[in-house]
Amino acid sequence: MSKKFDVIVIGAGPGGYIAAIRAAQLGLQVACIDEWKNTDGGPAPGGTCTNVGCIPSKALLQSSEHFDHANHHFADHGISATGVKMDVAKMIARKDHVVKQNNDGILYLFKKNKVTFFHGRGAFAGNTDAGYVIQVSGATEESLTAQQIIVATGSNARALPGVPFDEVNILSNDGALRLGSVPKKLVLIGSGVIGLEMGSVWRRLGAEVTILEGLPTFLGAVDEQIAKEAKKSFDKQGLKIELGVKVGEIAHVKKGVTVNYTNDKGENLKLDADKLIVSIGRIPNTIGLNADAVGLQLDERGAIRVDNECKTNLPGVWAVGDVVRGPMLAHKAEEEGVAVAERIAGQHGHVNFNTIPWVIYTSPEIAWVGRTEQQLKADGVAYKSGSFPFLANGRARALGDTTGMVKFLADAHSDEILGVHMVGPQVSELIAEAVVAMEFKASAEDIARICHAHPSLSEATKEAALAVDKRTLNF
Ligand code: FAD
Ligand code: NAI
Repeated sequence: MSKKFDVIVIGAGPGGYIAAIRAAQLGLQVACIDEWKNTDGGPAPGGTCTNVGCIPSKALLQSSEHFDHANHHFADHGISATGVKMDVAKMIARKDHVVKQNNDGILYLFKKNKVTFFHGRGAFAGNTDAGYVIQVSGATEESLTAQQIIVATGSNARALPGVPFDEVNILSNDGALRLGSVPKKLVLIGSGVIGLEMGSVWRRLGAEVTILEGLPTFLGAVDEQIAKEAKKSFDKQGLKIELGVKVGEIAHVKKGVTVNYTNDKGENLKLDADKLIVSIGRIPNTIGLNADAVGLQLDERGAIRVDNECKTNLPGVWAVGDVVRGPMLAHKAEEEGVAVAERIAGQHGHVNFNTIPWVIYTSPEIAWVGRTEQQLKADGVAYKSGSFPFLANGRARALGDTTGMVKFLADAHSDEILGVHMVGPQVSELIAEAVVAMEFKASAEDIARICHAHPSLSEATKEAALAVDKRTLNF
């Protein structure tokens, strides 16, 4: 007998578990299926984000930053810390504990909101008058039926052609987050978000890190001025980034791998690495979904084809998060999940794709929302720009971290904020003000006229807004 629900969500990553909770809040009977297993074989909801993505990477970034501070910055404050050692096993165990707290938190939220959780793989088994039939297999064997299905099956790391991940020496994000010791020589392929974050973790712990990037431009999606400032910092830290390379043969050797590549001058070079992390993007995951059984359409990238409202080609089947078009970000997945649940319940869920913030959690952090200067130029938009360096911010000086700046881009005529770009301390938190401002269609002057606490890093945001009108007060 198939169990009947109003909504079945396949996948309990940030897209799926949030969609399930929101649908349940709206009075619907909801099932959520997820196959992720913890080391004991038990359920580990939370998806890539919780298990091998956002949360564990930030835990390791925090640990490694403490280590870096103890070694290089405590002395500036008069604190002597000699013989500082890193216990990698303990750091990884702490990270695992943080992950587990998040897994358990989601199971608790399911109970609290009366979402029925099924541990196993969900696959389309047919479409009947009663609704779509979803077969759960693995840890749980069940047949479920619902008229409304939300697919939130996420994404997987992309491997280099012919170079599969072995998670021993050739690592995806998964293996990169659970190394047993600090590699002496670490090579990363791809200087995108994962390359920079994971490269930073292991460099801070003492690895000699080289990142090989195929494109000639560093962080092409980031505002050029911000990317340039960040690159200067990474160079100073000793994070070696080679742009415009072509990766050739990768061979397993006794002590790790060798990576052959051609650099931007056309020279053929070889790097020996104890470990190689391949971080060249992610591919939408529809493995095991049995999409063909019901004729669920995919696009040319293998993502589930959806419209602006996350509707697929099948009535009552929706898809959200990494498995569909758009940025592969946890908060984007969550917003889509909420909007779809609300649409199913007859409300008017909405996602504003123009105000999705991006954050790269390196040191300095990089954060932005809206359009970059190069995009505005390409779009032929007349704009004004204003920036303010953290060097002139009292709180940043007190923190001992004056790298970077806040930069505003505003419409030349209306002064509406079109983009805000930041590089510097704690900008992952500062960007929220810019997102709110853009959601409310604020002008740069609106921000410039708002009282900001002193001394705070957020004063740099106010000053950058003042700079749009060329009237900074502290620079
Ligand atoms: P996922 O989180 O991938 O979840 C999909 C879930 O579906 C998984 O649990 C999977 O087991 C399950 N599943 C798949 N198929 C089935 C099936 N057939 N049956 C049952 N279950 C199934 N984003 C940010 O916004 N901020 C960050 O700081 C950040 N850091 C990241 C760091 C790393 C190293 C990585 C790899 C990613 C990071 N991301 C970050 C991206 C973020 O993790 C993803 O955008 C987000 O997890 C996507 O959510 P999702 O729900 O679409 O999919
Ligand atoms: P990415 O798309 O950010 O970067 C991949 C990089 O690899 C690009 O610069 C690309 O030009 C390069 N590349 C591709 N093929 C190559 C090749 N053959 N040789 C050399 N370079 C090559 O992808 P990444 O870093 O794997 O991360 C995947 C996604 O996960 C991100 O796009 C992001 O959506 C998400 N993520 C988000 C984080 C955050 O929000 N802080 C942190 C980590 C990941």
